[in-house]
Parts: sequence; C-alpha cells; structure tokens
Amino acid sequence: MLYNKDKLTDRQQNLPSNTGRLITFEGIDGSGKTTQIELLSARLAAEGIPVLLLREPGGTQIGEAIRGILLDKAHTSMCIETELLLFAAARAQLVREVIVPELDAGKWVICDRFYDSTIAYQGYGRQIDPTVIRSLNQLAVARCRPDITFLLDLPVDCALTRLAGRNRLKDRLDNESVSFMQRTREGYCQLAKDEPDRIVIMNATEPEEQLAEHIYHTIREGLAT
Ligand code: TYD
Repeated sequence: MLYNKDKLTDRQQNLPSNTGRLITFEGIDGSGKTTQIELLSARLAAEGIPVLLLREPGGTQIGEAIRGILLDKAHTSMCIETELLLFAAARAQLVREVIVPELDAGKWVICDRFYDSTIAYQGYGRQIDPTVIRSLNQLAVARCRPDITFLLDLPVDCALTRLAGRNRLKDRLDNESVSFMQRTREGYCQLAKDEPDRIVIMNATEPEEQLAEHIYHTIREGLAT
C-alpha cells in the first residue's frame, strides 16, 4: 500500500512545511535495512536533501555505551526488564540530544530502528506486557514520532539464510530462537495493521534495486512536498 500523504502524523500537522522529516526503518535481523538506508540516503543526497543517518541503540555517546552493554556476549545474565530499560534509555537520549534538534533545524533524519523495534522484540519476542512497553516508549520519545516507517518484511527462513551468509561476529542478540524471530515478525505485521497510515510494509525479498525504487517513490509521493 502507499503512504497516504493526506493523513499526516500529529507531529507533522503541527509543524511548518519546511520542517525536517523523520523516516524509520524496521524489520527482523537480516531484512536488509542497512542496504536500503544507504541507497535511500544516497538518492536523497543527490537531490540536495542531506540526511542524517542514525541507528538504535546508539547515535549518542551515552547511547553507544548502552549499545555496548546490550550487545556484549558476556552479559548472558541480563534480564529482559533490564534489556527493555536500556533500549528505552538509549532512545530517550537520542531523541533529546539529536533527533529533535535536527528536525527543528529542518533536517531529514533516517533512523535504523526506533520504538517499533521495542514493541516487536521486547513486546512480541520477549512477551513483556505491551502496556508497560507503550508507556516506556511514550516516556522515551514524548511527541517525536516518525513521519513514515518502512517495515522490511520477509519470512524468517529467508532472514536466517541471509544471516548465515554474513561474515561478522555474533553479538548477544544474534542468538535468538526461530520462534522468537517469528513472534517478532508477527508483531511487526500487527503494528503495520494497527497504523497503516504511518507504517508501510515492503516486501524485503524483492531484489535490492527494485525495493529501493519502491521506497524512494513512496517518499517522493508522501513526504517530499
Ligand atoms: P544491530 O546489530 O544494530 O542489528 P540490526 O542490524 O538487525 O538492527 O543490533 C540491534 C539489535 O537490537 C537487533 O537484534 C534488534 C535489537 N533491538 C531490540 O531488541 N529492541 C529495540 O528496541 C531495538 C532498537 C533493537
């Protein structure tokens, strides 16, 4: 489906037309977010729209330190509540220190993961009470909402095949079960059903270039006014 430009988010409705844009990418590990973010930012930059690329958790000195704690394989004893609070803490810092000032200055920001990740991974994956997660997300981001979110969706077995072909060291969060990944994917799909005006589902099994075209055109139609 196409992003509906007539149904703008609250944040956008309250802002002047020369304001920045917040674009987020979501999907299970192996969905190809990084590649698509690079392709989109290169294309926007070529059109004279410089974009700031951020990733979660991270993007600030404090956030990168928290990322280190979250991903460290030595932290096998981390309980799921601590994990949830650390993701929220990194996000609160990123929003206040970077995202809001950049948007206020009229910049475009692309974020590799945002609060939907917490609903999908900690809510559906870890099965923490969704009400708690939503209020923590609310505390972390306040009124800062994405203008558009691309959900790169693909079956878990395809994601696993891609991940198996990657040549990088595994971190603490790379060892989740297939059922965890399935619940996470289902969570994302449910989120997209709940918020169809913001979250656009993209078929991540499409060839890279074709997918990049779809994403770019969705942005042109919905956001680049
Ligand atoms: P990363 O190496 O950045 O993975 P990816 O390239 O897939 O984004 O690690 C981030 C991991 O953290 C990833 O497995 C998803 C997970 N995560 C959560 O569980 N909850 C969250 O709120 C966020 C932002 C990430």
